[in-house]
Amino acid sequence: MMKRILFVLVTLVVGFAQAAELSFKVKYKYLNLPISQEVERCRLTFQAKGVDDLSVVARLSTEPDYWVFKDLTAYKGKTLTITFDGSEEALAQVYQADTIRDAQKMYHEKYRPQFHFTTRRGWINDPNGCIWHDGLYHLYYQHNPFEREWENMTWGHATSPDLLHWTEQPPVLHPDSLGTMFSGSAVFDKDNTSGFGTKKNPPLVFAYTADRSDKETQCIAYSLDGGMTLHKYEGNPVIDSHEKWQTHDTRDPRLFWYEAGQHWVLVLNERNGHSIYTSDDLRDWTYQSHVNGFWECPDLFPLAVDGNPNDVRWVMLGASYTYMIGRFDGKVFTPESGKHRFSTGAIYAAQTFNNVPEGRRIQIGWANIDHRGMPFRGQMLLPTELSLRTTKEGVRLVSKPIKEVETLLSPLYNSESALKEQDVNKALHAYLKQDGLHLRATLNLTYATSAGLKFDGQTLIDYDLNRNTLNGQFYSPQDPTSLSLTMDIYIDRTSIEVFIDDGLYSFSMDRKRTISTPQRPVTKGFEFWGGDINVTDIQLDAIESCWL
Ligand code: FRU
Repeated sequence: MMKRILFVLVTLVVGFAQAAELSFKVKYKYLNLPISQEVERCRLTFQAKGVDDLSVVARLSTEPDYWVFKDLTAYKGKTLTITFDGSEEALAQVYQADTIRDAQKMYHEKYRPQFHFTTRRGWINDPNGCIWHDGLYHLYYQHNPFEREWENMTWGHATSPDLLHWTEQPPVLHPDSLGTMFSGSAVFDKDNTSGFGTKKNPPLVFAYTADRSDKETQCIAYSLDGGMTLHKYEGNPVIDSHEKWQTHDTRDPRLFWYEAGQHWVLVLNERNGHSIYTSDDLRDWTYQSHVNGFWECPDLFPLAVDGNPNDVRWVMLGASYTYMIGRFDGKVFTPESGKHRFSTGAIYAAQTFNNVPEGRRIQIGWANIDHRGMPFRGQMLLPTELSLRTTKEGVRLVSKPIKEVETLLSPLYNSESALKEQDVNKALHAYLKQDGLHLRATLNLTYATSAGLKFDGQTLIDYDLNRNTLNGQFYSPQDPTSLSLTMDIYIDRTSIEVFIDDGLYSFSMDRKRTISTPQRPVTKGFEFWGGDINVTDIQLDAIESCWL
């Protein structure tokens, strides 16, 4: 122990001896910091009386590619000392102001997604703490506020009345001595079982992973102001299971209230699958059981099969969209079918929202879309409503964009009659100037061969009825003799999402910008192909921007 303390002291002394320092009284709202992806990351620390020290790494540079910012609300009126292990000149360019640098360009950037959530600056990955509370949806997320690549995991925060129009709020959880802030979830403790609030002002309670090089532990935080600020529980960590599982990988606690047993459940990914823990007060957790076969970001929830309340099954998911369907008694999940998969492509680490009115099970997933060098990276995909449906293969998960998305659509073109591919292509060509596009259509083959759809030369659908493959994955429609496929496509500036046959299968992708050359000409816009096909029930809509 003594040795360790000595080592830390020496590192600090040596570290601070080399570090450049900046100290000032905080008068304004933001700190603006110049960032270049070309320079190495160096340690950057923030210290002020009464605020926890923050230590991150950043690429401060005198020749910035872009600027990032830090919200200074917590430091207002205090003396803030910033140290940086890198260039002193770069640190000298850091300044406080009441505006975010380049704020006037924000949301007007060339490759800013128009109806998907993105952060103003920096990197995002997994959705965290998804919950509806007091008329607002809260989306927390894995965030690096200091650059457009993964690091310094912090919980970012955004709120929305409808899951589409988001307002970004200041980050709520910052790295501390237990580690960086990895994924987790949120519940509303309405009876104040945790004692973090009062009967009159019950808390929102959060579970998250603190990731450190030696281990990952599970921690609790709570909010008494509707999720805007979070307080870490002084008894953290509440679960430390790395020795038991002989692994570093124990993470992403998923909380929910188990009504039938009147207790809390925490699902945790540990080593090779998901474990179930239970608690009466959200502080003390008891291990109950484990299901092998999943990696990262657990979710577990009940759904009524075909909407029948007498036939409720539980769905257990991992980060990569594979799932099992089974029974759950509050302590043990017993799989009855699986593994299945309902979505592929860019989507990862999705989470469903707790407490959504009318019992809707709404999910939001992350996609690592790069937005071509913008000062932000990653996005959330469209929120989708999940249901269980009886299919010819058995009960399966169905995922459809939430109905609120329709409020963003305005019709451009409609046709019910059967059109040959060249006629559809011509008809749709007139609407290319739109930023966001939605296309719903049914593709009908007349021969059991292949057909599909491209957009700006990029393959969206490649359906082979001989092999029964859709973009390389086995796919057979509900009527196995059917020659038709229905598609529902959402095109944003940098990503595309496709839902097949009313959400039975879906996929998401980066939107490619293919340059047309005389040698490799690219057809702009939609291009159905397949020879002797026709297209019916065409609906083309513009998708309104959620920002402007
Ligand atoms: C999944 C994941 C989680 C982890 C987080 C870290 O994308 O690896 O398991 O909590 O990202 O950012």
